[in-house]
Amino acid sequence: MLQLNGVSKIYHGRVTTTALSGIDLAVPDGEFLAIVGPSGSGKSTLMNIIGLLDRPTTGQYWMDGVEVTRWSDAHLAGLRNRSIGFVFQSFNLVPTLSARENVELPLVYRSVAPRERRRAAESWLKRLGLGHRMDYRPHELSGGQQQRVAVARALAGSPKILLADEPTGNLDDASRRDVAKIFEELCGSGQTIVLITHDGQFASVADRRLRLVDGILEQEARAASHAN
Ligand SMILES: Nc1ncnc2c1ncn2[C@@H]1O[C@H](COP(=O)(O)OP(=O)(O)O)[C@@H](O)[C@H]1O
Ligand SMILES: [Mg+2]
Repeated sequence: MLQLNGVSKIYHGRVTTTALSGIDLAVPDGEFLAIVGPSGSGKSTLMNIIGLLDRPTTGQYWMDGVEVTRWSDAHLAGLRNRSIGFVFQSFNLVPTLSARENVELPLVYRSVAPRERRRAAESWLKRLGLGHRMDYRPHELSGGQQQRVAVARALAGSPKILLADEPTGNLDDASRRDVAKIFEELCGSGQTIVLITHDGQFASVADRRLRLVDGILEQEARAASHAN
């Protein structure tokens, strides 16, 4: 279970921007939560805080009953490594590595033995329908295939939470449906997922939808199919 209590984020740059304002959010284990909202509403800021890449300006973050808000950067990095799998719009694969090597990479950082790494990478790539593309490099794969490699990489270390920021933002319709189906299946197997998207169709496969508007989290956004 992860929980945010009164989380705000204020950027002090040339101008002061309140990106998040008093966010209260609890995500139980196994839930597939979608957060929707227009551009600039604070979605990526929220994702970075949930993913332990950034800290709130005020408020608290609890993970499994432990408040992590004031942990040191080194401790947060360790927790992030063990607990969070990220998927981004831009795939962020290493261009010189094969699909298999990309998926193995986070396990290298965790000092998993080579044979075990390879086994985990191959098993995830096969599960995501890429058993025949394991030795391909990113530029030899379609966008949808690259994103599936990124999902495999995020999941290879069995993270507690899969965090995805606009994972279908760079994909064509068929690949978007593909990725949505994968997320639905992962949720069915018990994976906790926080998905940030402005793709209403994708959000509609989640267990719950919340809307972020000007840094404020609003109650359940209506599923696209019910909007009128
Ligand atoms: N590093 C930053 N410094 C200053 N302002 C930022 C920074 N990152 C984001 N912002 C501002 O915070 C607000 C929310 O941004 P963001 O979380 O990226 O929104 P979204 O992902 O929903 O498009 C925007 O007004 C943006 O300009
Ligand atoms: Mg964003």
